[in-house]
Amino acid sequence: MTVLIKAEDIQARIRELAAEIEAAYPPDDEIHLVGVLKGGFVFMADLIRAMSARVTLDFIAVSSYQASTRSTGEVRLLKDVDARLEGRHVIIVEDIVDTGLTLTYLQDILRARAPKSLRTACLLSKPSRRLVDVKVEYIGFTIEDKFVIGYGLDFAEKFRNLPHIAVMEET
Ligand code: IMP
Ligand code: MG
Repeated sequence: MTVLIKAEDIQARIRELAAEIEAAYPPDDEIHLVGVLKGGFVFMADLIRAMSARVTLDFIAVSSYQASTRSTGEVRLLKDVDARLEGRHVIIVEDIVDTGLTLTYLQDILRARAPKSLRTACLLSKPSRRLVDVKVEYIGFTIEDKFVIGYGLDFAEKFRNLPHIAVMEET
């Protein structure tokens, strides 16, 4: 495998994203991050540590069926958030936006909980793969259509622990 994004470049970009997020909300308002398990947990862990004490967090888990050719990909909710979202500034924190189907599903169900605001942060985006036009306010890096691993992203549940983003070699 080859390194696509170095660990230090990820950390530097996360500090920029954290500053951008902090500046976008009134200073006294809480910001509630909802991390998408499992892939989003590493990004979430670093993002919250680059933010101020007003951040709170929760997790949600979904399973996305491979739906590269279908426009209505099935997404299943495996674990809901623990706390209510009503009246809160909510940011969904996800590892990657690929077809956009997972995030479209998540935005729809979380928006129905009447948050004060709802935004999305993704470490990576593969715009060439998009099947649905989903709004993602905060994107770490835009990448080409290559299967990537590391920093939360897996191949058959492995490699999530790599500190960098790597490209899987052709098999
Ligand atoms: P979606 O296609 O935007 O719905 O993305 C669904 C999920 O596919 C993401 O949350 C990731 O978990 C996974 N995924 C998409 N592209 C990659 C990749 O390059 N490596 C590892 N997982 C990926
Ligand atoms: Mg994921």
